[in-house]
Amino acid sequence: MRITIVGCGSIGSKLAMAADEMADVKRIYLTDMELSLAENLAAKLKKAIVVEDVEEELYHCDLVIEAASQDAARQILPTVVSRGVDIMIMSVGALVDDGFREMVQTKAKECEARIYIPSGAVCGTDGLRSSAIGDLKEVELITTKGPKSLSGVQTLIEHGVDVNAIAEPTVIFSGTARDAVKQFPKNINVAATVSLLGVGFDRTKVSIVVDPNSKSNSHELRIKGEFGEMTCHTYNVPSPDNPKTSYLASMSAISALKRIVRNEWIGI
Ligand SMILES: NC(=O)c1ccc[n+]([C@@H]2O[C@H](COP(=O)([O-])OP(=O)(O)OC[C@H]3O[C@@H](n4cnc5c(N)ncnc54)[C@H](O)[C@@H]3O)[C@@H](O)[C@H]2O)c1
Repeated sequence: MRITIVGCGSIGSKLAMAADEMADVKRIYLTDMELSLAENLAAKLKKAIVVEDVEEELYHCDLVIEAASQDAARQILPTVVSRGVDIMIMSVGALVDDGFREMVQTKAKECEARIYIPSGAVCGTDGLRSSAIGDLKEVELITTKGPKSLSGVQTLIEHGVDVNAIAEPTVIFSGTARDAVKQFPKNINVAATVSLLGVGFDRTKVSIVVDPNSKSNSHELRIKGEFGEMTCHTYNVPSPDNPKTSYLASMSAISALKRIVRNEWIGI
Protein backbone atom coordinates (compact mmCIF):
# COMPACT_ATOMS: atom_id res chain seq x y z
CA MET A 1 0.00 0.00 0.00
CA ARG A 2 1.12 3.54 -0.77
CA ILE A 3 -0.09 6.30 1.52
CA THR A 4 0.04 10.10 1.50
CA ILE A 5 0.12 11.93 4.83
CA VAL A 6 -1.07 15.54 4.68
CA GLY A 7 0.23 17.38 7.76
CA CYS A 8 3.52 16.44 9.43
CA GLY A 9 2.76 17.80 12.91
CA SER A 10 2.00 15.91 16.09
CA ILE A 11 -0.31 13.21 14.63
CA GLY A 12 1.19 13.06 11.11
CA SER A 13 4.75 12.52 12.31
CA LYS A 14 3.84 9.74 14.80
CA LEU A 15 1.73 8.08 12.12
CA ALA A 16 4.53 8.31 9.52
CA MET A 17 7.05 6.76 11.96
CA ALA A 18 4.64 3.87 12.67
CA ALA A 19 3.78 3.42 8.96
CA ASP A 20 7.49 3.26 8.14
CA GLU A 21 7.66 0.06 10.25
CA MET A 22 4.57 -1.56 8.68
CA ALA A 23 5.62 -4.21 6.14
CA ASP A 24 2.48 -3.66 4.03
CA VAL A 25 3.18 0.05 3.60
CA LYS A 26 5.58 0.30 0.66
CA ARG A 27 5.73 4.05 0.11
CA ILE A 28 4.88 7.13 2.22
CA TYR A 29 4.33 10.48 0.49
CA LEU A 30 4.60 13.37 2.94
CA THR A 31 3.32 16.89 2.50
CA ASP A 32 2.83 19.92 4.73
CA MET A 33 2.13 23.61 4.09
CA GLU A 34 5.55 24.06 5.73
CA LEU A 35 7.50 21.79 3.41
CA SER A 36 10.57 21.84 5.70
CA LEU A 37 8.54 19.86 8.29
CA ALA A 38 7.86 17.17 5.67
CA GLU A 39 11.52 17.18 4.62
CA ASN A 40 12.80 16.84 8.20
CA LEU A 41 10.41 13.97 8.85
CA ALA A 42 11.25 12.22 5.55
CA ALA A 43 14.94 12.34 6.48
CA LYS A 44 14.19 10.09 9.50
CA LEU A 45 12.25 7.49 7.49
CA LYS A 46 13.12 4.67 5.07
CA LYS A 47 10.06 4.76 2.78
CA ALA A 48 9.13 8.45 2.65
CA ILE A 49 9.43 11.07 -0.05
CA VAL A 50 8.17 14.65 0.04
CA VAL A 51 5.51 15.91 -2.37
CA GLU A 52 4.42 19.52 -2.82
CA ASP A 53 0.73 18.74 -2.50
CA VAL A 54 -1.67 15.82 -2.25
CA GLU A 55 -2.40 15.79 -6.00
CA GLU A 56 1.22 15.26 -7.03
CA GLU A 57 1.25 11.47 -6.47
CA LEU A 58 -2.50 10.83 -6.12
CA TYR A 59 -2.44 8.49 -9.11
CA HIS A 60 0.03 6.23 -7.29
CA CYS A 61 -1.61 6.48 -3.89
CA ASP A 62 -4.04 4.02 -2.23
CA LEU A 63 -4.89 6.02 0.89
CA VAL A 64 -4.60 9.70 1.85
CA ILE A 65 -4.45 10.54 5.56
CA GLU A 66 -5.35 14.09 6.53
CA ALA A 67 -3.71 15.20 9.80
CA ALA A 68 -3.53 18.94 9.15
CA SER A 69 -6.56 21.18 9.77
CA GLN A 70 -10.25 21.56 9.01
CA ASP A 71 -9.36 23.87 6.09
CA ALA A 72 -7.01 21.26 4.64
CA ALA A 73 -9.65 18.54 5.04
CA ARG A 74 -12.29 20.68 3.27
CA GLN A 75 -9.83 21.35 0.46
CA ILE A 76 -8.59 17.81 -0.18
CA LEU A 77 -11.66 15.66 0.56
CA PRO A 78 -13.54 16.36 -2.74
CA THR A 79 -10.35 16.06 -4.83
CA VAL A 80 -9.26 12.77 -3.28
CA VAL A 81 -12.62 10.95 -3.28
CA SER A 82 -13.41 12.15 -6.84
CA ARG A 83 -10.29 10.29 -7.97
CA GLY A 84 -11.54 7.11 -6.27
CA VAL A 85 -8.82 7.21 -3.60
CA ASP A 86 -9.64 6.30 0.02
CA ILE A 87 -9.13 8.95 2.69
CA MET A 88 -8.75 9.02 6.48
CA ILE A 89 -9.76 12.26 8.17
CA MET A 90 -8.49 13.50 11.56
CA SER A 91 -9.95 17.05 11.32
CA VAL A 92 -13.46 15.63 11.53
CA GLY A 93 -14.98 19.04 12.27
CA ALA A 94 -14.60 19.74 8.53
CA LEU A 95 -17.73 17.61 8.07
CA VAL A 96 -19.95 19.90 10.18
CA ASP A 97 -21.45 21.59 7.10
CA ASP A 98 -24.32 19.30 6.02
CA GLY A 99 -24.22 20.34 2.33
CA PHE A 100 -20.46 19.79 2.09
CA ARG A 101 -20.63 16.42 3.91
CA GLU A 102 -23.45 15.12 1.72
CA MET A 103 -21.64 16.24 -1.45
CA VAL A 104 -18.46 14.44 -0.36
CA GLN A 105 -20.36 11.30 0.69
CA THR A 106 -22.17 11.19 -2.68
CA LYS A 107 -18.92 11.69 -4.62
CA ALA A 108 -17.16 9.01 -2.57
CA LYS A 109 -19.96 6.53 -3.27
CA GLU A 110 -20.00 7.33 -7.00
CA CYS A 111 -16.21 6.98 -7.26
CA GLU A 112 -15.94 3.98 -4.88
CA ALA A 113 -13.70 5.78 -2.40
CA ARG A 114 -13.91 5.01 1.32
CA ILE A 115 -13.89 7.67 4.03
CA TYR A 116 -12.34 6.51 7.32
CA ILE A 117 -12.83 8.42 10.57
CA PRO A 118 -10.83 7.03 13.52
CA SER A 119 -12.27 7.19 17.03
CA GLY A 120 -9.60 9.82 17.79
CA ALA A 121 -9.29 11.07 21.34
CA VAL A 122 -12.58 9.67 22.63
CA CYS A 123 -13.57 6.20 23.86
CA GLY A 124 -17.07 4.72 23.67
CA THR A 125 -17.58 5.19 19.92
CA ASP A 126 -18.10 1.42 19.56
CA GLY A 127 -21.02 1.47 22.02
CA LEU A 128 -22.44 4.64 20.53
CA ARG A 129 -22.36 3.18 17.02
CA SER A 130 -24.20 0.04 18.13
CA SER A 131 -26.71 1.87 20.32
CA ALA A 132 -27.61 4.24 17.45
CA ILE A 133 -29.28 1.29 15.70
CA GLY A 134 -32.12 1.83 18.20
CA ASP A 135 -33.63 5.04 19.58
CA LEU A 136 -31.21 7.37 21.36
CA LYS A 137 -32.69 9.78 23.92
CA GLU A 138 -29.58 11.75 24.82
CA VAL A 139 -25.93 12.04 23.80
CA GLU A 140 -23.78 14.39 25.84
CA LEU A 141 -20.05 15.08 25.73
CA ILE A 142 -18.33 16.86 28.62
CA THR A 143 -14.77 17.84 27.75
CA THR A 144 -12.36 19.12 30.40
CA LYS A 145 -8.99 20.61 29.50
CA GLY A 146 -6.24 22.61 31.12
CA PRO A 147 -5.58 26.22 29.98
CA LYS A 148 -2.65 25.23 27.72
CA SER A 149 -4.92 23.04 25.62
CA LEU A 150 -7.32 25.93 25.05
CA SER A 151 -4.92 28.81 24.49
CA GLY A 152 -5.28 30.95 21.35
CA VAL A 153 -8.92 30.03 20.66
CA GLN A 154 -10.32 32.91 18.58
CA THR A 155 -13.85 32.85 20.01
CA LEU A 156 -12.49 33.08 23.59
CA ILE A 157 -10.17 35.96 22.67
CA GLU A 158 -13.10 37.80 21.01
CA HIS A 159 -15.22 37.33 24.17
CA GLY A 160 -12.37 38.50 26.42
CA VAL A 161 -11.96 35.10 28.13
CA ASP A 162 -8.42 34.61 29.43
CA VAL A 163 -8.13 30.88 30.13
CA ASN A 164 -4.90 31.43 32.08
CA ALA A 165 -6.73 33.66 34.56
CA ILE A 166 -9.37 31.01 35.40
CA ALA A 167 -8.84 29.89 39.02
CA GLU A 168 -11.36 27.03 39.35
CA PRO A 169 -13.11 24.57 36.99
CA THR A 170 -15.32 26.74 34.75
CA VAL A 171 -17.72 25.88 31.91
CA ILE A 172 -16.65 28.05 28.97
CA PHE A 173 -18.99 26.54 26.41
CA SER A 174 -22.34 24.79 26.61
CA GLY A 175 -24.41 24.14 23.53
CA THR A 176 -24.76 21.98 20.44
CA ALA A 177 -21.93 19.99 18.90
CA ARG A 178 -22.42 22.06 15.74
CA ASP A 179 -21.59 25.30 17.56
CA ALA A 180 -18.77 23.65 19.54
CA VAL A 181 -17.04 22.38 16.40
CA LYS A 182 -17.37 25.76 14.66
CA GLN A 183 -16.14 27.79 17.64
CA PHE A 184 -13.33 25.42 18.71
CA PRO A 185 -12.09 24.02 15.37
CA LYS A 186 -8.78 22.73 16.77
CA ASN A 187 -10.02 21.46 20.13
CA ILE A 188 -13.19 19.42 19.84
CA ASN A 189 -13.02 17.15 16.78
CA VAL A 190 -14.36 14.37 19.01
CA ALA A 191 -17.72 16.21 19.16
CA ALA A 192 -17.93 15.83 15.37
CA THR A 193 -17.08 12.12 15.50
CA VAL A 194 -19.68 11.55 18.24
CA SER A 195 -22.30 13.54 16.27
CA LEU A 196 -21.72 11.58 13.08
CA LEU A 197 -22.12 8.28 14.92
CA GLY A 198 -25.07 9.19 17.12
CA VAL A 199 -27.80 11.82 16.94
CA GLY A 200 -26.20 14.44 14.69
CA PHE A 201 -24.65 17.85 15.27
CA ASP A 202 -27.80 19.59 16.55
CA ARG A 203 -28.96 17.01 19.12
CA THR A 204 -25.51 16.21 20.58
CA LYS A 205 -24.93 18.35 23.69
CA VAL A 206 -21.41 19.57 24.43
CA SER A 207 -19.88 21.29 27.46
CA ILE A 208 -16.27 22.46 27.55
CA VAL A 209 -14.73 23.01 30.98
CA VAL A 210 -11.41 24.72 31.74
CA ASP A 211 -9.80 23.26 34.83
CA PRO A 212 -6.59 25.07 35.88
CA ASN A 213 -5.45 21.92 37.74
CA SER A 214 -6.19 19.48 34.95
CA LYS A 215 -3.22 17.50 33.63
CA SER A 216 -5.37 15.63 31.08
CA ASN A 217 -7.68 16.29 28.13
CA SER A 218 -10.71 14.42 29.41
CA HIS A 219 -13.87 13.43 27.52
CA GLU A 220 -16.93 12.10 29.32
CA LEU A 221 -19.43 10.60 26.90
CA ARG A 222 -22.93 9.99 28.34
CA ILE A 223 -25.50 8.13 26.27
CA LYS A 224 -29.10 7.18 27.07
CA GLY A 225 -31.31 5.20 24.75
CA GLU A 226 -33.33 2.11 23.99
CA PHE A 227 -30.23 -0.01 24.75
CA GLY A 228 -29.85 1.34 28.29
CA GLU A 229 -27.29 3.87 29.51
CA MET A 230 -23.55 4.25 29.03
CA THR A 231 -20.92 6.58 30.48
CA CYS A 232 -17.40 6.42 29.15
CA HIS A 233 -14.72 8.67 30.61
CA THR A 234 -11.32 9.06 28.94
CA TYR A 235 -8.47 10.88 30.68
CA ASN A 236 -5.99 11.61 27.90
CA VAL A 237 -2.34 12.54 28.20
CA PRO A 238 -1.80 15.62 25.98
CA SER A 239 0.88 15.20 23.30
CA PRO A 240 4.08 16.96 24.47
CA ASP A 241 4.54 18.48 20.98
CA ASN A 242 0.94 19.80 20.81
CA PRO A 243 -1.04 20.06 24.09
CA LYS A 244 -4.27 20.58 22.10
CA THR A 245 -3.92 17.04 20.76
CA SER A 246 -4.28 13.96 22.95
CA TYR A 247 -1.72 11.21 22.51
CA LEU A 248 -4.61 8.75 22.04
CA ALA A 249 -5.62 10.58 18.83
CA SER A 250 -2.27 9.69 17.22
CA MET A 251 -2.62 6.12 18.50
CA SER A 252 -6.12 5.86 17.01
CA ALA A 253 -4.80 6.97 13.60
CA ILE A 254 -2.02 4.36 13.76
CA SER A 255 -4.44 1.66 14.88
CA ALA A 256 -6.88 2.57 12.07
CA LEU A 257 -4.07 2.37 9.49
CA LYS A 258 -3.08 -1.06 10.83
CA ARG A 259 -6.63 -2.35 10.43
CA ILE A 260 -6.85 -0.93 6.90
CA VAL A 261 -3.55 -2.44 5.70
CA ARG A 262 -4.37 -5.84 7.26
CA ASN A 263 -8.01 -5.65 6.11
CA GLU A 264 -8.91 -7.02 9.53
CA TRP A 265 -11.87 -5.53 11.42
CA ILE A 266 -12.19 -6.57 15.05
CA GLY A 267 -14.69 -4.76 17.30
CA ILE A 268 -16.06 -2.64 14.44
N1 LIG B 1 -10.18 13.33 15.61
C1 LIG B 1 -9.62 13.62 16.78
O1 LIG B 1 -10.02 13.10 17.83
C2 LIG B 1 -8.50 14.61 16.82
C3 LIG B 1 -7.73 14.71 17.98
C4 LIG B 1 -6.67 15.60 17.97
C5 LIG B 1 -6.44 16.40 16.88
N2 LIG B 1 -7.25 16.31 15.79
C6 LIG B 1 -7.04 17.16 14.60
O2 LIG B 1 -6.09 16.56 13.75
C7 LIG B 1 -5.40 17.59 13.03
C8 LIG B 1 -3.89 17.40 13.21
O3 LIG B 1 -3.56 17.52 14.58
P1 LIG B 1 -2.04 17.71 15.06
O4 LIG B 1 -2.06 17.69 16.52
O5 LIG B 1 -1.16 16.79 14.32
O6 LIG B 1 -1.79 19.22 14.59
P2 LIG B 1 -0.37 19.96 14.43
O7 LIG B 1 -0.68 21.42 14.49
O8 LIG B 1 0.63 19.40 15.36
O9 LIG B 1 0.07 19.58 12.94
C9 LIG B 1 -0.65 19.99 11.80
C10 LIG B 1 0.31 20.10 10.64
O10 LIG B 1 -0.46 20.30 9.46
C11 LIG B 1 0.12 21.34 8.69
N3 LIG B 1 -0.95 21.97 7.93
C12 LIG B 1 -1.92 22.79 8.38
N4 LIG B 1 -2.74 23.14 7.37
C13 LIG B 1 -2.26 22.53 6.26
C14 LIG B 1 -2.67 22.51 4.89
N5 LIG B 1 -3.74 23.22 4.46
N6 LIG B 1 -1.94 21.78 4.02
C15 LIG B 1 -0.86 21.09 4.43
N7 LIG B 1 -0.42 21.08 5.71
C16 LIG B 1 -1.12 21.79 6.60
C17 LIG B 1 0.79 22.27 9.70
O11 LIG B 1 1.85 22.99 9.12
C18 LIG B 1 1.29 21.28 10.77
O12 LIG B 1 2.60 20.84 10.52
C19 LIG B 1 -5.90 18.94 13.59
O13 LIG B 1 -6.90 19.46 12.74
C20 LIG B 1 -6.49 18.54 14.92
O14 LIG B 1 -7.52 19.43 15.34
C21 LIG B 1 -8.25 15.41 15.74
